[in-house]
Amino acid sequence: MMLNQVEELASKASDGLGKVTDVNDLEAWRIRYLGRKGSLIQVLRSLATLPLEERRAVGARANEFKKSLEAAYTEKKSNLERSSALSLQRESLDITLPGRQVSLGRLHPTTQIVEEICAIFSSMGFQVVEGPEVERDYYNFEALNMPVDHPARDMFATLWVDLETEAGDKPVLLRTHTSPVQIRVMEKSRPPIRIIAPGRVYRYEATDAPHEWMFYQVEGLAVDKNITLADLKGTLFEFARRLFGEERKCRFRCDYFPFVEPGVEVAIDCMVCRGAGCRLCGNSGWIEILGAGMVHPEVLRRVDIDPEVYSGFAFGMGVERIPILRYGIEDIRLFYSNDLRFLRQF
Ligand code: FA5
Repeated sequence: MMLNQVEELASKASDGLGKVTDVNDLEAWRIRYLGRKGSLIQVLRSLATLPLEERRAVGARANEFKKSLEAAYTEKKSNLERSSALSLQRESLDITLPGRQVSLGRLHPTTQIVEEICAIFSSMGFQVVEGPEVERDYYNFEALNMPVDHPARDMFATLWVDLETEAGDKPVLLRTHTSPVQIRVMEKSRPPIRIIAPGRVYRYEATDAPHEWMFYQVEGLAVDKNITLADLKGTLFEFARRLFGEERKCRFRCDYFPFVEPGVEVAIDCMVCRGAGCRLCGNSGWIEILGAGMVHPEVLRRVDIDPEVYSGFAFGMGVERIPILRYGIEDIRLFYSNDLRFLRQF
C-alpha cells in the first residue's frame, strides 16, 4: 500500500521537475519534494509505524528515489545556471568597444569631373543647363543639319526608342550627343548665349578600352556678335590648362560635323604613355577629348538667329576621357562596372 504511494510520489516529482524552467521554480520544487517538510521526508518518517517487512521494502525504494531525485535536482540546477549565464553574456553590452564606423558614400568620379568642368566654365561666364536624355529625332539630328538619310547620321550609332507617342510618327531616340541641347537653348533665348550642358548620352556601339555605350558629354555653346574660331581656341586652351595643368599638350585638327563649319577635333597627349603610344590611345600618343567648331549658319537660321549678324562656337567633350587622362586609367569600362575597389580611389 505504502509502496504504491512512494511510486506515485516519484512519478509526480519527476513530472514536476520536467516542467521547471527557472531557478525560482526549481527552489519551490526542491522545498516541495526534498525539503525538511517535503513529501519524501514525510514518507521516511512514517516508516516507523510500518511492519518490519514493509518498512524494509518501502525504505529501500524511498532511499533510491531520494538519491535519484537529488541527482536530477543537481543536474537541472547546473543546466539552468549555465543557460542563464549564457543569456546574460549574450545580452550584455561592452560599452568600452569603439563604435562601428559608418561607411560614407562618395561622388562617382564622373560626377566629380562634371562638377569640376562646370566650375571652370561657370567662372568664364557660362551658364549650366540640362536637356532630356530621351530625345526627338528633330533635336538630335534634323535641326543639327542632319535631315533623314543624311550620311553623317552614321557617325552616331543610335538606340531608337519604340514609343507610342502623342507625337505619332515622330521618331524618338536616346540622345547620341548633348548637341540637341544647343537647339533647345537657341529656340528659347536670344544672343548673347553662353551655356554648357552636361549629361548622359547613348550609342549603339561595341565597347572597348576607350568606348562605352553610355557615357557623359559636356556641350558648350556661345553665340554673339563677332565670335570667331580664335575665341573657341582661346576658351578651350584655357579650359585644358586649368584642368590638366600648364605642361599638357593640346592638338587642334580639322574634323567634320554637319552642324559646324569649320569643324575641329581637339586631342590631349596621352597621360598613360606620354605620347609614345599605348592601348588606350590606340598607339597614336593622343587622346581625342572633344569635337568642336563654329555653329553652322544653317543651324542658326533654323532657330531664327541671323547668321549675318551673329556667329557662335560649339563643342562637345567626352567626360570620362578626362579622368582617364588625368589618372592614367586604361579602360573606360571600369567607370560603370560598379567595382567599389575602383570607385573608392577617387
Ligand atoms: C559629338 O558627339 C559631337 N556632338 C561633338 C560636337 C559638339 C562637335 C559641338 C561640334 C560641335 P563625337 O562623336 O566625336 O562628337 O563625340 C565627342 C566626344 O565624346 C569624343 O571626342 C569623345 O571624347 C567622346 N566619345 C565619343 N564616343 C564615345 C564612346 N563610345 N565612349 C566614350 N566617349 C566617347
